[in-house]
Amino acid sequence: MLDFPTTLSAVVKPAPALSREEREREIERAGYNPFKIDARTVSVDFLSDSGTGALSTAQRAAAEQADESYACSSSWYRFEESVRDLVPYRHVFPVHQGRAAERVLFSSLLSPGQISISNTHFDTTRANVEIAGGRALDLPCPASSDLDSEFPFKGDIDLGALERTLSGPEGSKVGIVLMTITNNGLGGQPVSLANMTSAAEIARRHGVPFWLDAARFAENAWLITRREPGYSHWDPRDVARREFALADGCMISLKKDGLGHAGGLLAMRDDALAERCKALVIAGEGFVTYGGISGRDLEVVAQGLREVTDPQHLAGRESAAALLAELSHQAGVSTVRPSGMHAIYLNAGRLLTHLTPAEFPGHALACELYRRGGIRAAELGSLYLGELDDDLRLREPAPFELIRLAIPRRSYDETHLRFVGSVLDDIAKEPEQVPGYRLTEAPPLLRHFDCRLTPL
Ligand code: F0G
Repeated sequence: MLDFPTTLSAVVKPAPALSREEREREIERAGYNPFKIDARTVSVDFLSDSGTGALSTAQRAAAEQADESYACSSSWYRFEESVRDLVPYRHVFPVHQGRAAERVLFSSLLSPGQISISNTHFDTTRANVEIAGGRALDLPCPASSDLDSEFPFKGDIDLGALERTLSGPEGSKVGIVLMTITNNGLGGQPVSLANMTSAAEIARRHGVPFWLDAARFAENAWLITRREPGYSHWDPRDVARREFALADGCMISLKKDGLGHAGGLLAMRDDALAERCKALVIAGEGFVTYGGISGRDLEVVAQGLREVTDPQHLAGRESAAALLAELSHQAGVSTVRPSGMHAIYLNAGRLLTHLTPAEFPGHALACELYRRGGIRAAELGSLYLGELDDDLRLREPAPFELIRLAIPRRSYDETHLRFVGSVLDDIAKEPEQVPGYRLTEAPPLLRHFDCRLTPL
């Protein structure tokens, strides 16, 4: 017998289904950039799992009791109580989303020239380290560079490299060790509790604060129960508590495992740091009991944080990603192994061997998914990470040509996944039909959001 279904739909909306000609016109208008495609033309939107999920009936009911008082609203107290059930830190600040927590933290914690070490910084995290005058150093574990390896915790930090850096000539410059769980920049891979425990111990021995970027803390906890010896009988909520207990503080984008449409939080043990953060939260976000989001959103994420560690929800996320990966393999498209929870990462470089990195195979596959199926996804290859010369030609390719299919929470079911599998199957039958692309416009910063391309 199969597992019981995990949800019943409470609110639905029609999915757009345009003709191929209409989509061709739209993607041309959008300069072949998925970020500029009108969402009303997208049938399956796998661009991001951030703020894109469906709310539960309990979240909608919670939103109805929102208190929009400017300070110390009852919604704030319900939010605080829900956060404190998971994190053991004295100070909790809501903010408008994850990157706001990054800006506040790094401006309060890092002095110019200091280093932030991570298993992998997410792109806004890196940008906020750099804006604070710091340097972001990624030390992913060696297994992460083999896309096909089945190593269960490819999100881990390289403990040897961490120890060497902290005891080396630049050790005194390190201002924070930040573990991203799960490791979104590296295939959505989880981090083991063993690795987090050792990294925290190394950081503490060198007097450096150990923090979590915990946007997907519940998905990481679930994969620990599934993959790490000794935790198979643990409740994922207790694993999540253990993750937080190891750290001096955390930042959470509540648009992922907060199951909300807006919101983030910053929480910490250190009183002096909290005082500095408080000033920046008030100046840039809002009073400390609402942090830039409405009472409604505080209620939604307070309830979301209670729901997200439900084993049935997490098991459903794991099997959705596993099914999508399986359908891709059946179509002949390889993915970063093992599949994680929030997304699968397709290896476009391996499929579109007729294209060079300068013709952006990841981007080409993303465009083809939209042209044939109205499926939207984001490139994670040379368009996003490569280096360009002055006339927009690729000088240095990215290490891999990937695209991410991120699965919004509680929005899509098996029929959507099978549809995506069928479109991949269609593309993989004649991959050489997929054209490459050339950049025609690209801003100097964060180019993937605003660039324009043309097919070759
Ligand atoms: N940290 C991680 C690991 C993230 O994945 C994100 C956002 C952030 C921080 C920033 O949070 O968006 O609330 O400001 N990731 C989204 C994504 C955008 O699509 O992966 P935010």
